[in-house]
Amino acid sequence: MTKKITARITAVGAYLPEKVLKNTDLEKMVDTSDSWIVQRTGIHERRIADKDEFTSTMGVKAAQQARECISLEPAKIDAIICATMTPDYLSPSTASLIQASLRAVNACALDIQAACTGFLYALSLAKGWVESGMYTNVFVVASEKNSAFIDYEDRNTCVLFGDGAGAVVVQSEGPGLEIRHIALGAEGNLANLIQIPAGGCRNTSSAETVRDKQHFIKVQGREVFKHAVRRMEAAIKDCLEKTALPEHHINWLVPHQANLRIMEAVAKDFNIPSERVFKTIDRFGNTSSSTIPIALFELEKQHPIQKNENLVLVAFGGGLTWGASLLTKI
Ligand code: UT7
Repeated sequence: MTKKITARITAVGAYLPEKVLKNTDLEKMVDTSDSWIVQRTGIHERRIADKDEFTSTMGVKAAQQARECISLEPAKIDAIICATMTPDYLSPSTASLIQASLRAVNACALDIQAACTGFLYALSLAKGWVESGMYTNVFVVASEKNSAFIDYEDRNTCVLFGDGAGAVVVQSEGPGLEIRHIALGAEGNLANLIQIPAGGCRNTSSAETVRDKQHFIKVQGREVFKHAVRRMEAAIKDCLEKTALPEHHINWLVPHQANLRIMEAVAKDFNIPSERVFKTIDRFGNTSSSTIPIALFELEKQHPIQKNENLVLVAFGGGLTWGASLLTKI
């Protein structure tokens, strides 16, 4: 009988641009205050990419770091999946640009757009490819240059987002984080709640769309908030049920970093103490799809994950989309 393959994350990398945008800097740009931002979101500062840094170049840096961790030759990479909502171009894919820079000449490359849930959607494809036996070494890169799509005169959005990239390698063998289950969902009826209205074929770019600031991210925050907690809780429950894991066996909750209050509400529902909820939101803000792999990288750096520890990843974002995954260190 052939042995069942279980996909696992064997390496993690991250890249954050150097430039720091503090709440006090934003106070000089829009009608906001450090105390409003901290109380409502938990964000103190975020990173902003340079003019010559892009979603692809940040993704390459994160992927290189992950690749070097396991000394994998570029030619052995089978696939590169890039999760992003802020691609370098509408076409070609950002994954193609990353493939070229990594010299991953034997890799297929594609982008996945599931907004802030993009990393988990991409991870599920990597898991499927590895466990089917189709591929052995799959890179999942989540990278965002949100600042290129932010109106720095709109206080509803400019305080929330930052730039950055994270990457993981998914393989069929070796020590790492076994991907035990991934639950995904979407509610397209609420697609209008997080939107970049122009630049696609429905509302093509024109002088008017630029004048009307239709190429920037628009968020109906309060509405999004209402759905986020409920959907993330359901996705986590699904993971726990499918893997028969009791909630008190969760060692770390690694949530998408959109709002500290959302993270705490989700953690409370599963009786996870605050110190077991891994947070980067204070330093990096919401970097869309890349928050979870960046947090995984930072978690491993600050509190090396021990054998048999269970991690729950959970995300929510535009689409609307949501997802959760249960990982166990092996
Ligand atoms: O990553 C994808 C998923 N995204 C999310 O999950 C985001 C979910 N939503 C949120 O995190 C929160 O809704 C926000 C942080 C975006 C907003 O917090 P809120 O507690 O929901 O505030 P609100 O939108 O209800 O606004 C409260 C007030 C409003 O004033 P009025 O109408 O009560 O007079 C806003 O105009 O705060 C005002 N406001 C601000 N004030 C100072 C909105 N933005 C700001 C600001 N500074 N930057």
